[in-house]
Amino acid sequence: MTVPHHDADEIRARLQALREGDLPTHGGRTLAYVYDSGIAEADALGREALAAYGATNGLDPTAFPSLLTMERDLVAFAKPLFHAPVGAVGTVTSGGTESVLLAVQTARDGRPEVDRPVMVVPSTVHAAFHKAEHYFGVERVTVPVDPRTKRADVDATAAALAEHADRVVLLAASAPSYAHGVLDPVPELAELALRHGVRFHVDACIGGWVLPWLERDGLVRHPWDFAVEGVTSISADLHKYAYTPKGVSLLLHRTPELRRPQFFASADWPGYTMLNATLQSTKSGGPLAAAWAVVSYFGDEGYRELTRTAYAGTQALVDGIARIEHLALASEPDSTLVAVTTDGACDVFTISDAMLARGWFVQPQMAYADLPATLHLTVSAATAAHVDEFLAALEESVDAAVASGPIAVDAPLRAAAAALDPSTLDDAAFDGLLALAGLAGEGGGVAPPERMAPVNALLDVAPPALREALLVAFLDRLTRTE
Ligand SMILES: Cc1ncc(COP(=O)(O)O)c(C=O)c1O
Repeated sequence: MTVPHHDADEIRARLQALREGDLPTHGGRTLAYVYDSGIAEADALGREALAAYGATNGLDPTAFPSLLTMERDLVAFAKPLFHAPVGAVGTVTSGGTESVLLAVQTARDGRPEVDRPVMVVPSTVHAAFHKAEHYFGVERVTVPVDPRTKRADVDATAAALAEHADRVVLLAASAPSYAHGVLDPVPELAELALRHGVRFHVDACIGGWVLPWLERDGLVRHPWDFAVEGVTSISADLHKYAYTPKGVSLLLHRTPELRRPQFFASADWPGYTMLNATLQSTKSGGPLAAAWAVVSYFGDEGYRELTRTAYAGTQALVDGIARIEHLALASEPDSTLVAVTTDGACDVFTISDAMLARGWFVQPQMAYADLPATLHLTVSAATAAHVDEFLAALEESVDAAVASGPIAVDAPLRAAAAALDPSTLDDAAFDGLLALAGLAGEGGGVAPPERMAPVNALLDVAPPALREALLVAFLDRLTRTE
């Protein structure tokens, strides 16, 4: 096949048509993946900066000093928000996962004498830490969270630190956790980190651009940032609640010494000396410029307003959910994320499908260990104006889900899934399961399901290792070409 050529207008039309199959990024009706300020001028500014800087290269800050200026500005804006000491340093990365990966890599390489390094993390930390374990070989020791508050268990953390004492290079916590929207007990954990002399990373990827303004309104119950002695690094994404285009996060370290192992240089080849502070080498300056533009547009006042709006929307949602029979909060939210459970009369997967049919995306989260399946709601400022509509749709969706009853996974399907060994899942085994689930497409491909609930319910009863193997096989099929 040759690369096809089309004229510009055809391409524009095709791009627009392709987008119509996606979830809407604006309008406040997508409560995961996207963040909408509802302010059109900020969006336009972000897009302009993205386009204007799209071809610049952050590989070399001396060649594109504009990018260095903007990176330094963003770090300078963030430092006081997180009560960072004057000497604290920061890096702009491509997203939350990259910030977390670098926090783990830096902790590992900051202790080269440790043979088999360990990080101690609550079970609710973002899966980016699992990826860091996978990439960097830092063993993950997981401690449970309180089943009621969903906050990390301090005693269990102390025990894990004591057990692995000399091997621990990092302790981590969330502010807040993605799955339940709660802050871990950062001061208590920081004390443990200080006592053991280990780094302590607070993952505020999702809360970092909300909590500082909530705090000023007296709404943050637990200290979580550099104001707490013992916190050594913080990640905070701008492409979440700073409402900037995708591709920008911040990683801050308390001191330059703590950041030093993050740098990579290689002069050991005949080309330019490669010198990086991030995983990426060549990187577009577009997302950074867009973030700089949008953050400068909103400024402190703008984010205070956006945070107040999103928080008020969250509280209105929480109140409304309390009035809907069969629903309950999984935990009391600490910021603008809400996790909702059902009482067993219906299931979250059917509700999620019913909401989608009504024009709302709410993200189903599978059961994990003793934590039940939930619906995840990330509340953007733009959602706040539509809370009544959302609650009406949610009530209807719950009624529909109760009427159809909790989804049951067919016995043969459940048995087939149970018989699979995730470590040896080959194409043939996966084909069989796809056929049983009614997902087999033409030519050995996958056919996207009309309703996600049966698929999600099947995944929900599968152990995590099997979920992973099935979804990897699914993604592999989705992305194969002829
Ligand atoms: C707490 C937390 N950490 C890390 C991440 C990963 O961020 P990203 O998807 O930008 O890589 C997320 C994403 O939601 C998050 O909520």
